[in-house]
Amino acid sequence: MELTDTRILVTGGAGTIGSHVVDQVLDAGASQVVVVDDLSRGTLANLGTAFERAPEKIELVEGDIRDAELMHKLTAGKDVVFHLAALRITQCAAEPRTALEVLVDGTFNVIEAAVEAGVAKVVASSSASIYGLADSFPTTESHHPYHNDTFYGAAKAFNEGMLRSFKAMHDLDYIALRYFNVYGPRMDAHGKYTEVLIRWMERIEAGEPPLVLGDGLQTMDFVHVEDIARANVLAARADVTDQVYNIATATETSLLELAEALQKVMGSTAELEFGPARSVNSVTRRLADIGAAERDLGWTPSITLEDGLASLVSWWRAQR
Ligand SMILES: NC(=O)c1ccc[n+]([C@@H]2O[C@H](COP(=O)([O-])OP(=O)(O)OC[C@H]3O[C@@H](n4cnc5c(N)ncnc54)[C@H](O)[C@@H]3O)[C@@H](O)[C@H]2O)c1
Repeated sequence: MELTDTRILVTGGAGTIGSHVVDQVLDAGASQVVVVDDLSRGTLANLGTAFERAPEKIELVEGDIRDAELMHKLTAGKDVVFHLAALRITQCAAEPRTALEVLVDGTFNVIEAAVEAGVAKVVASSSASIYGLADSFPTTESHHPYHNDTFYGAAKAFNEGMLRSFKAMHDLDYIALRYFNVYGPRMDAHGKYTEVLIRWMERIEAGEPPLVLGDGLQTMDFVHVEDIARANVLAARADVTDQVYNIATATETSLLELAEALQKVMGSTAELEFGPARSVNSVTRRLADIGAAERDLGWTPSITLEDGLASLVSWWRAQR
């Protein structure tokens, strides 16, 4: 399916990833893009480019996916739904009841409304968190979810289960994308649950070294937000349904390597500083197998860590 002249709903579309999805569905020729976001983390500024380019095509509805009536109203007449609204992993740990209401009940509303509206496809945001600390690397999509011990990961796994059940019950076409460690422009720079990269950029800019919590040997599989958005668009277009895909770069980067890469991009040579580990997430290693996304969606990551960090730094500096 091409996205030319399609009508699109993006939940969480004012957020980091959602706003890049909005930009890219406009690039792909969508005729109408409705964003529903409660602006708890998302911002109008994230949609600035989209509003500048195509004000007649885009609408921002400040609303909550927990509002079933609103979700049914907004989904009517849409061709594709990109579902990104969710709470961060740390907020889910701090407020599990709210997480249940948003990630589970809210996603149920999105799915039920998509069935009622007869949309062609739902592209949903899942997460590598569903694996917990994997048994095998590179981790494939068939890896079991039983090592996950976070409420966030449990809710994402249940979301995938809900989607699959609605495919079986109502023939709802969907794809769920398991993003690994996403970074890039529009990351939340001011929120309570600020990412490590933002904290490090602040320190480096102030002439201090990055502060690494723990030994820094924990690895992640970093993937740039624009590559994530492109995976969403390809998932909507691809002639596949009822599947989940890892979206990552298949490159293992330790926190130490990340700190050094960021220092290089920002021109810092200071010795790293270390502090005590504190994290709700006990995963010490991430490395994805991304062969399935390449085979079925025609997706491969295009942005290197160095280029991606440079884009993050220049966006972040422009914000200050
Ligand atoms: N960033 C990552 O590393 C990562 C990794 C794996 C999966 N994901 C998933 O990708 C999706 C997008 O993440 P992101 O990094 O852009 O986060 P984000 O916080 O920037 O975006 C989420 C958006 O959802 C909105 N939102 C939250 N609760 C809402 C509600 N009840 N109703 C309507 N809107 C609501 C927020 O205001 C925000 O704009 C999420 O589903 C997230 O779980 C992200």
